Amino acid sequence: MMKAYKLSCRPSSCVCQGQTRSTCLTSTNVLMPNSSLVRKANKVSSSQLLGALSGLHTTRILRVLLSAELREPEKDAIWRVFEDNMHNLYSQSSFGWDPPSKRAELFDPLSRFVLIETDGHMVAFSMFRFESEEDEDVLYCYDLQIHRSQQRNGLGTLLIHALEAIGTAWRMQKVALTVFKTNLSAIKFYEAAGYYLIFTMDETSPNYLEDGENSDDLEYVDYDILSKRLALS
Ligand SMILES: CC(C)(COP(=O)(O)OP(=O)(O)OC[C@H]1O[C@@H](n2cnc3c(N)ncnc32)[C@H](O)[C@@H]1OP(=O)(O)O)[C@@H](O)C(=O)NCCC(=O)NCCS
Repeated sequence: MMKAYKLSCRPSSCVCQGQTRSTCLTSTNVLMPNSSLVRKANKVSSSQLLGALSGLHTTRILRVLLSAELREPEKDAIWRVFEDNMHNLYSQSSFGWDPPSKRAELFDPLSRFVLIETDGHMVAFSMFRFESEEDEDVLYCYDLQIHRSQQRNGLGTLLIHALEAIGTAWRMQKVALTVFKTNLSAIKFYEAAGYYLIFTMDETSPNYLEDGENSDDLEYVDYDILSKRLALS
């Protein structure tokens, strides 16, 4: 759905839409500089990333693009699918519905897209970035969206496999993502794809208290962070 920041959720929640990592983390948080592997991956061309998808068994047409390589009609199509799927979930969440901020996050210069097209129309997309996170190199999936008419047809699975193939090829240690706790169908989908909860913050999460921290210090959040380890080649 978007990226949320585990570190920045304690003690005061800062969920970042449309902000870069460096602008959203509070000064009390330790910011990891990008590792050399992540810096290298961020310089790789889209056609090199596409090469990593050659092992996927599919007749679907997949494209890989940097944000700057998207044409305006493609950005509009991405936005329409995102808005149709997510407007209600965002409106009911602590994030609220904030199109300018979300568009800035989606089309950030470091954002990469995998698109699936049918008959010349974009029917599904994922947006991801390469990032260093708490000493790990991560392919962070910010968005995975299937057009309403095409859901439950295997496209989500194809896209998540594409992200895993790209992450593996560029030696990321895991794929991570954020999901609203209320988005039960997406949680079921990610569980079916082998993703595990690595961060949650709710009344049932006392295990996230650190030394000297009181549960009153914590602000509970309406999203979870899931991840899946990639086999390092
Ligand atoms: C969640 C989403 C990405 C899943 O993609 P999809 O193409 O519909 O899912 P797939 O067809 O690949 O499903 C694979 C498996 O995931 C599980 N699954 C997928 N959707 C499910 C649902 N609505 N309810 C329960 N399980 C579901 C099932 O186990 C399914 O296998 P099956 O169809 O053989 O039973 C897609 O439905 C979507 O775009 N939803 C709206 C946007 C959204 O919530 N995105 C995620 C933001 S974090």
